[in-house]
Amino acid sequence: MKLLFGLLLLPMLASAPALAEEDGARLFTPCRACHSLDPAERGLPGPNLSGVVGRAVGSDPGFDYSPALRKARGNGLRWDTPRLEAFLADPAEMFPGLWMSMRGIEDATERMALAQFLANPASR
Ligand code: HEC
Repeated sequence: MKLLFGLLLLPMLASAPALAEEDGARLFTPCRACHSLDPAERGLPGPNLSGVVGRAVGSDPGFDYSPALRKARGNGLRWDTPRLEAFLADPAEMFPGLWMSMRGIEDATERMALAQFLANPASR
């Protein structure tokens, strides 16, 4: 029984990350209106998101953040994938006064795929 379960699960585990990355890139498309993942690209309406996972919240040196994100940075908050997933569910709920007008993403699988893509955009 255990073996059978393992045999069924293995192919699922093997294909899940690839699917998530592909979806993540697609899900990031609307974000590109305001965000870039190319560290050299400046001047968009939102902060640069290259290397966002692992860095402090509100820490793109070239971006003038809202008081809400500056305060979060002052509190020592960092972006990791769980925090990103929670943020994407309802951005303004996590940071009241946020200057990012985007509705949350309802689907938890989509949030996970997007957070994984942001953690590793080159893996496509
Ligand atoms: C209409 C423009 C716009 C769109 C579309 C948009 N954002 Fe943003 N985003 C912003 C702005 C502006 C900020 C900075 C907000 C502030 O200072 O309060 C921001 C901040 C962020 C941050 C925090 C960055 C940091 O340096 O701490 C993340 C993460 C983020 N956005 C992810 C996304 C993702 C993922 C999407 C797509 C699902 C998206 N955004 C769509 C404008 C946008």
